[in-house]
Amino acid sequence: MSYASHHPGESCWREGSARESTSSSETMDVLSEYLWSPLWDVFGWVGLIVFTVICATVLLKMLGWLGDILFSLGRSKDLVKVYGRWAVVTGSTDGIGKGYAMELARKGMNICLISRNEEKLINVANEIKSLHNVEVRWIKADFSGTDIYELIEKELSTIDDIGILVNNVGIAPEKWEAFCNHDNQYMLASININMTSCVMMTHIILKHMIPKNRGLIVNVGSMSSLIPLPYGAVYSSTKTFIDNFTLCLATELSSTKIELQCLRPGFVRTNLISQMEGLTLFFEKALPFLLPDVKTFTKSAVRTLNGSVPLYTSGFWAHSMMASAVQTVSMFSRRAVARAAKLLMKYYWGAITKPKTALQRF
Ligand SMILES: NC(=O)c1ccc[n+]([C@@H]2O[C@H](COP(=O)([O-])OP(=O)(O)OC[C@H]3O[C@@H](n4cnc5c(N)ncnc54)[C@H](OP(=O)(O)O)[C@@H]3O)[C@@H](O)[C@H]2O)c1
Repeated sequence: MSYASHHPGESCWREGSARESTSSSETMDVLSEYLWSPLWDVFGWVGLIVFTVICATVLLKMLGWLGDILFSLGRSKDLVKVYGRWAVVTGSTDGIGKGYAMELARKGMNICLISRNEEKLINVANEIKSLHNVEVRWIKADFSGTDIYELIEKELSTIDDIGILVNNVGIAPEKWEAFCNHDNQYMLASININMTSCVMMTHIILKHMIPKNRGLIVNVGSMSSLIPLPYGAVYSSTKTFIDNFTLCLATELSSTKIELQCLRPGFVRTNLISQMEGLTLFFEKALPFLLPDVKTFTKSAVRTLNGSVPLYTSGFWAHSMMASAVQTVSMFSRRAVARAAKLLMKYYWGAITKPKTALQRF
């Protein structure tokens, strides 16, 4: 006889719990019948697969920066051998363009500089020649106009074996402010310098590259194509164009040995951002690693050309991490990214002036 049988209360409790367990097992039966009905079976699995795919995609986006770093770890490539002897760089008398010209010359490429200021062109050409044993040519052209391309094409036709084109030239607004306050001259110049130059230069240079079936075109975009920028709508949108243009052409040319890359830098210490005092101060104080100097940045960006060239890159580890974070949020709401950018522009970077047009709400 068990100990339990001397305690009727307990036996009663056991009976009760047996009843409870019977009813709960009935509930489970009903539930499992409902849960594992053929309909649930299908939707349950589909849901699980969709959920897993979403999680994996988010994770991949979050870790996108790792890809950028891995790409740059490959063994240094002989750019002359793989692509050709000459590199053409637009907007090459200062900032990132000059940095690219220097770095490509260091890797043994002859350089053709294209910029608007003759004195600066001569100085940069001499600087490159004094540092590296390469040939340097230059073409004076102002990309704010559209009548320069015949001259550029003629000048470039005298250069044999163009291997790399860096479509770098670009301008940002001198003042980040309400769209209505930008003048016509700035807006038209932006479109010509940031977009027309890229399209026309690519068109000219591909005529050199296609017969040889080799070459590389680096289009310098910006992280602002990932972050829609209120108060910088024209700049940000011209850079989105660069993203799309690069993807279209890369796909069109995928069966050739001509490679394309869209470089999307974050902030780099150049003249372009020097007038944005609030912004540079913000980064210097809060996140200095996000504001590299030109040399550090271009060295790192050119390293992404080692191995197989990634179609999109930020070119610098800290910018790649920032881009991954932005892209992850954008997967859910690009609008939220734009709103956050608006807040930053408005309250931290002191970019804003009220629109002169009284009716515009903001
Ligand atoms: N700096 C950044 O934080 C940053 C971030 C993202 C993307 N980017 C992109 O990187 C590229 C280079 O920017 P950056 O910061 O190096 O700019 P930068 O320091 O202002 O240099 C721009 C270069 O382009 C030349 N240039 C400007 N307007 C021209 C025109 N109308 N015709 C011919 N040449 C012209 C300039 O010539 P002068 O020497 O005569 O001025 C200079 O050599 C741009 O496409 C920009 O959008 C920059």
